[in-house]
Amino acid sequence: MTISGTQLQAASGALLSRRYRDVRAHSLLLASPLSAEDQCIQSMPDASPTKWHLAHTTWFFETVLLMPHLANYQPFDRHYQYLFNSYYEALGPRHPRPQRGLLTRPTLAEVHAYREHVDAAVHKLLAEAPAAGEAHRREVEAVVTLGLNHEQQHQELLLTDILHAFSCNPLLPAYDPSPVPALRLAAQPSPPAWIEMHGGVVQVGHAAGEGFSFDNETPRHNALLQPYRIADRLVNCGEYLQFVEDGGYRNPQLWLSDGWAVVQAQGWHAPAYWLAPDDPRRAHQDAGNAKGWQVFGLHGARPLDPQAPVSQLSFYEAAAFAEWAGARLPTEFEWEAASAVQGMRELTGHVWQWTRSSYDPYPGFKPLAGVAAEYNGKFMVGQLVLRGGSIATPAGHTRPTYRNFFPPAARWQFSGLRLAKEL
Ligand SMILES: [Fe+2]
Repeated sequence: MTISGTQLQAASGALLSRRYRDVRAHSLLLASPLSAEDQCIQSMPDASPTKWHLAHTTWFFETVLLMPHLANYQPFDRHYQYLFNSYYEALGPRHPRPQRGLLTRPTLAEVHAYREHVDAAVHKLLAEAPAAGEAHRREVEAVVTLGLNHEQQHQELLLTDILHAFSCNPLLPAYDPSPVPALRLAAQPSPPAWIEMHGGVVQVGHAAGEGFSFDNETPRHNALLQPYRIADRLVNCGEYLQFVEDGGYRNPQLWLSDGWAVVQAQGWHAPAYWLAPDDPRRAHQDAGNAKGWQVFGLHGARPLDPQAPVSQLSFYEAAAFAEWAGARLPTEFEWEAASAVQGMRELTGHVWQWTRSSYDPYPGFKPLAGVAAEYNGKFMVGQLVLRGGSIATPAGHTRPTYRNFFPPAARWQFSGLRLAKEL
């Protein structure tokens, strides 16, 4: 029996349909421990409410996929175009980002109904696409794939944003009250091993035709690296605590000028969610009287684990720690080249790792066509690249060429570091 092209196309559509269902269900699963009140609040302009994430990811499918590609598609509610557009100038004005937490309406139930409306239309489009010609099918499947990767990015933000909101609550609620899972799979109390890299011309970036990537990972190109050493593991909380206790946050010699200004202005004295032994919020915790530092995370406030990778660091803090440690941050291409080497540990699954690289376009970079042109390219100024992936990154979402990016003072993500040095 031979398999026809049409059968193969139908199979690929069915596979994507299943993936769509799974990714969309995962967003609801992540939101499920949260009350309707939890899902409505916005704790700072950078962080969005859970309900907004659920609606905006749906808006993306409705706007970029269904309205241009599904004949006679009826939008769920025409007001949602204004409410749930994030930053797409080409699609007109939108609700101000810092005011997303004011949207008590639509209700959570209405947002769930919105998701169901769009899901049904996407499944219809995917089922009908093979019959509408090869070019149409390819385009539809490419946009669905982009939309799913977009939703996975928001799944991580959903967690980091609700964690920030909970960190502002004196009760420090636990998103997941179950015991802390074994995060330190490979973390070791011993000093990191230094992996020697000989440098030279290396190929970096995502190769065309090798599965999905975001446009910012392309084109693949040559980069010249000087010889360097890179730590085989992440910096852990025990090491970072030494930096704190050594007066790292009081010594301007260790800090970039902009970073020192933020330390002064914000009164930083430790990573974002560390609770000092005299932190008044500990009065509300069961373990509040315990000695030593605590760290607030998805599992609530827990005693600092010296072997767990340090998280919730800004770029400024990561760079100051590296300076204190007599090392530096790797560039993004040093990180990428080393990621393929045997012995490198904790590349993903713990924290995103700050690099010393500005978020810039690769030589020959071209943004995606159409509305999605605004997805990445217009943010390529004033931000730093992070590599790897975190405990909040959905399984299968990241890859060695993946470029995450945030401004240097951002520290509400699961962000930490690994060290590099000259060889
Ligand atoms: Fe988005």
